[in-house]
Amino acid sequence: MIYLNNAATSFPKPKRVKNAVAQHLNSPPFHAGRTGYDLQQKDIILSCRKVLASLLHIKNPERIVFTSGATESLCLAIFGLELRDKAHVITTAIEHNSVLRPLKTLEKEGAITLTVIPCNSAGKVEASSVIKQIGDETRVVVVNHCSNVSGAVTDLAEIGKVTSAKDVVFLVDAAQSAGNIPLNVEEMHIDLLAFTGHKALHGIQGIGGLFIRESVNIKPLKVGGTGVKSDYLLQPEAMPLYYEAGTQNMPGIVSLYEGVSLVLEKGIKVLQEVKAERVQRMIDHLSKHDDIILYYPEDQDGGTCLFSFNIKNMDPADLGYILENVFDIIIRSGLHCAPLVHQALNSYPLGSIRVSPSHFTTDEEITFFLNAIDKICEGTSTTDFITDNME
Ligand SMILES: Cc1ncc(COP(=O)(O)O)c(C=O)c1O
Repeated sequence: MIYLNNAATSFPKPKRVKNAVAQHLNSPPFHAGRTGYDLQQKDIILSCRKVLASLLHIKNPERIVFTSGATESLCLAIFGLELRDKAHVITTAIEHNSVLRPLKTLEKEGAITLTVIPCNSAGKVEASSVIKQIGDETRVVVVNHCSNVSGAVTDLAEIGKVTSAKDVVFLVDAAQSAGNIPLNVEEMHIDLLAFTGHKALHGIQGIGGLFIRESVNIKPLKVGGTGVKSDYLLQPEAMPLYYEAGTQNMPGIVSLYEGVSLVLEKGIKVLQEVKAERVQRMIDHLSKHDDIILYYPEDQDGGTCLFSFNIKNMDPADLGYILENVFDIIIRSGLHCAPLVHQALNSYPLGSIRVSPSHFTTDEEITFFLNAIDKICEGTSTTDFITDNME
């Protein structure tokens, strides 16, 4: 099997991640404040916050709260801001549904008015277009750092300069960028940064986090047991407990610690370069086909970690089916939970094929994938191809 779907969930997981999770599961469980293993647990939780703080350039690791992934982090941020009375919010056309749906829900309830900034035909949102819309009444700007459809990267620092000067909350969806692209919450003036653990941070599914700047008030999504201050009948307000009610996802935190440590040790710029080279090789080859339409940002600084494409007159769902069932290649087809960007790419409503290698992807695997696409392009029709190869 050739796995080119790392933008959904990365695979394979690094050995050190698998070993650490196995070792954790083979040890007695420890619960915060409740057993003699307390110190070990606190150690790994704090160590995980520290490596994340180092990767994302966050001064105080305790400003990072653990969640189940970017979706929960974004909901915590968007609903936790307690926006009301048609507060003005700006977002973009390259957002994932985990941003669009909470915002559209608030818009429907009359809590916010929403401005959606369009993107260009490569899925890129210009920082200047976002900045132009920031007015006196704007409360929040929500931006996807890296499109999960085209790989286009948004210039956060440019936007952050303006939001911080105008006292507007700057929320960034770093689901695709954390572990793929350097991030610096201080230089980029980010107030809230949502990330997930199971993509380029190499952790397992079900772990992620949210960075919350001291100056931003967020209401917790959940309250409950914290293992400490049990005599206190309200949620303890100290960070990060305030947002972390309930038993922590320890296997997830252990995996995230190892995954982030690997990214730090290898160097994010080195990993970015490796992935960008792999993607560029595929783009260079596919662009020679007249019947292939590519969706990616040309001349992007640092290249791109993923891209999308379509074969003319072919449903991406059929192409995905053939790749998986005939060639044993795993990619993702469809809208990728980001419907608005496909309108700009002209790939709505069927979507596209998204290809996302990791630094584990080999040259041989890429050659095999490119040969498979060559063969599919030579085929006369989808049906002929499926019949020829499947029967
Ligand atoms: C841009 C973007 N935002 C948010 C998410 C949601 O992440 P998770 O499923 O880990 O909550 C994804 C996942 O595909 C994504 O690509």
